[in-house]
Amino acid sequence: MKDFLWGAATSAYQIEGAVAEDGRAPSIWDTFAAEPGRVDNGDTGDQAAGHYHRWRDDIELMTELGLGAYRFSVAWPRVDPYGKGVVNTKGLDFYQRLVDALLDKGIEPWPTLYHWDLPQTLEDAGGWPERDTAARFADYAAIVHDALADRVTHWTTLNEPWCSAFLGYGTGRHAPGRQEPLASVRAAHHLLLAHGLAAARMSGSRVGITLNLTHVAPLGPADVEAARRVDGMQNRIFLDPLLRGHYPDDLPIDLGHVRDGDLKTIAAPLDFLGVNYYTPMTVTTTVRPAPTAYVGCEDVVQVDRGLPRTSIGWEIDAGGLRDLLLRLRDDYPGTDLYITENGAAFDAPVHDHDRIAYLHDHLRAVREAVAAGVPLRGYFAWSLLDNFEWSYGYAQRFGLVHVDYATQHRTVKDSGRWYRDVIRRSGR
Ligand code: FCB
Repeated sequence: MKDFLWGAATSAYQIEGAVAEDGRAPSIWDTFAAEPGRVDNGDTGDQAAGHYHRWRDDIELMTELGLGAYRFSVAWPRVDPYGKGVVNTKGLDFYQRLVDALLDKGIEPWPTLYHWDLPQTLEDAGGWPERDTAARFADYAAIVHDALADRVTHWTTLNEPWCSAFLGYGTGRHAPGRQEPLASVRAAHHLLLAHGLAAARMSGSRVGITLNLTHVAPLGPADVEAARRVDGMQNRIFLDPLLRGHYPDDLPIDLGHVRDGDLKTIAAPLDFLGVNYYTPMTVTTTVRPAPTAYVGCEDVVQVDRGLPRTSIGWEIDAGGLRDLLLRLRDDYPGTDLYITENGAAFDAPVHDHDRIAYLHDHLRAVREAVAAGVPLRGYFAWSLLDNFEWSYGYAQRFGLVHVDYATQHRTVKDSGRWYRDVIRRSGR
């Protein structure tokens, strides 16, 4: 594929470690992971993949794989440790060095400003359900942008605000672990507002946001309404404000916290939309309502279609990616798209043929979508390295490169070599 960008992605808390070095303050993930029972096996990001010290080696690996771009996230608690808009130079310098070294190797740096590591002080002040957190984010974004915009072209404000809002404040499966459905809806809005306020401070750059979108199918004709509601609370609750300037009018939630002018801020033109895709959903209604991440959808459950799954339990269906991309082409035309994450958890240390099969099928879906006129400009595999997989800890491995956590030794997996060859052949 011509002019198509090939990359791989990581995020700060998942790989950096060094959580108490050079002035970094705790984030909500440090606090959450330290609480017994929150993360499998009691794992934390304290060491992670040791990237804060091994970043030079990791750039060598990227060169070996032939990456055109590297998507990483900037840790808010390193750069602005207490969320007060006060820069911690040592923390910022880390990303300065990283960006310079990537450019030296001809790899385009693709920073994401927020991949879930909210400074703990801001959570103590109420977190994302508080409107002021959006303004704090914009100040932090401006600090990083002012420092790096001379060398960085593409900026992503937020990674997967759905997870921050609905897993962080709804189910409590992610930090900060609160189970307050009403607060989760407010958090979603303030994350969108944070995006808009930050984007307004980043003129001259190409600015996007990454959403975790999925294809939601009804099990049968009686489930169409249930699928519509889940689609609303997963996809359209973010897509419509960003790309149409209003919330969908069929969301099963109260939006009383939305103020005049917010939607104008949120809907400022996007230069690109990042799409993270792992698995589709098939849903049906149940007679036994239960708490769910989908506020207003307590009577809806996911159906197991009996398809193969990755080791984390996510159903494998590349057709869901193709359908999602075609839907974006049709319902939200005119925005350049990048797949900013796609990949699979499998345990095999080096000979990871399941991962190759997953990537192979999903890249075929990518080619089909491009051939069908989807304005898809690039693809980032998740992930460059095995890393701290949030509440699953280190047990789930998504890397193209294996990490031995005891020694921090890296070994390129078969999938890494396979992906290198895909890139060499421009995706064919
Ligand atoms: C996404 C996250 C990423 C990683 C993958 C597997 O939801 O953005 O950090 O955990 O899932």
